[in-house]
Amino acid sequence: MIQKPESCGAQHHPRFSSLILNLFPFSSWWSHVEMGPPDPILGVTEAFKRDTNSKKMNLGVGAYRDDNGKPYVLNCVRKAEAMIASKKMDKEYLPIAGLADFTRASAELALGENSEAFKSGRYVTVQGISGTGSLRIGANFLQRFFKFSRDVYLPKPSWGNHTPIFRDAGLQLQAYRYYDPKTCSLDFTGAMEDISKIPEKSIILLHACAHNPTGVDPRQEQWKELASVVKKRNLLVYFDMAYQGFASGDINRDAWAVRHFIEQGIDVVLSQSYAKNMGLYGERAGAFTVICRDAEEAKRVESQLKILIRPMYSNPPINGARIASLILTTPDLRKEWLVEVKGMADRIISMRTQLVSNLKKEGSSHNWQHITDQIGMFCFTGLKPEQVERLTKEFSIYMTKDGRISVAGVASSNVLSSSILCCWTWA
Ligand code: LMR
Repeated sequence: MIQKPESCGAQHHPRFSSLILNLFPFSSWWSHVEMGPPDPILGVTEAFKRDTNSKKMNLGVGAYRDDNGKPYVLNCVRKAEAMIASKKMDKEYLPIAGLADFTRASAELALGENSEAFKSGRYVTVQGISGTGSLRIGANFLQRFFKFSRDVYLPKPSWGNHTPIFRDAGLQLQAYRYYDPKTCSLDFTGAMEDISKIPEKSIILLHACAHNPTGVDPRQEQWKELASVVKKRNLLVYFDMAYQGFASGDINRDAWAVRHFIEQGIDVVLSQSYAKNMGLYGERAGAFTVICRDAEEAKRVESQLKILIRPMYSNPPINGARIASLILTTPDLRKEWLVEVKGMADRIISMRTQLVSNLKKEGSSHNWQHITDQIGMFCFTGLKPEQVERLTKEFSIYMTKDGRISVAGVASSNVLSSSILCCWTWA
């Protein structure tokens, strides 16, 4: 039997050592593996957890907190969980495409109950592992079946995970202008100019609402213009809708762009997540939808999505999908959810206002209007990486390097903290 070099007990004998080296020319299978950098978003949480300062604040990851700064489980979720527990349901595998009630309710939520595409069944929705997993199913599907182009155009900037999701699926990343750092708002002219030059039949990614990381969304008239240029260029639109209801507090208003594009005859693909709007972060409930020409095409697409999913994770997790579908399909729970999602959106909006008024009170003469103009979970503060570093090092305030803060992490208790406000006033 060949022994490992460490255990042979003859390391100091030169001839024996060289024999060992020939037998074992490297010390490990993985000696060439370099240390990778921490994740730009989730790595912030890891650093936050290591910090021992009792006044530390995590404004990095987009996770909602209540006004005491604590994670929040929605009442409708607690009730749905109790209903599920009382039914003593089994834990059998879900079908490859997921829980049918969940996928149908997700499509209805996104497209609207009166949508022609929904009613005629010319769509397919499969369950995904929250937003990220659903995006990845979509990216892999495009890599395998979108035969017209490899290029995916992302807004500049986009959510940090979009690039690795599409790149790792074998697609090529391109960009279009979206955000103007000078005004901290939408660069609509730049976006229109760039999109009108995208080669026909490429893929374009659009954030359906509450753009991450900037919090800057087009207005409805601007969405209309974007839809018409996208149609002219014959682009395949990939909508990422991770925040339906979380931006304005109204699920229909937040889905307006997706529905408008489909009404214009643009057959989009779409990813959804229930992490934020139902607070189901760790349950990993999400969905991927393809709008097709007709129901028969949808059946063919579904068959291929199943072939793609099966070797990835076989079939999706059951619990989050049960909770979400029960909330969406039980009238009382749905009603309660709509109130709670609006409550979360409203608290974020009020934190934006309080933040700006405190900055003014502390004597900042900087124009902070973008904090209240921006929408959704995040605010793109305009703080530079050096300022972010100082906030973290000196005050234990954690945020992503690009100056994005999760407004959902700001609470009445900490918005007034003078140490934070002193730092804010530098910019
Ligand atoms: C975020 O942008 O902070 C969230 O979407 C969480 C994540 O997975 O990055």
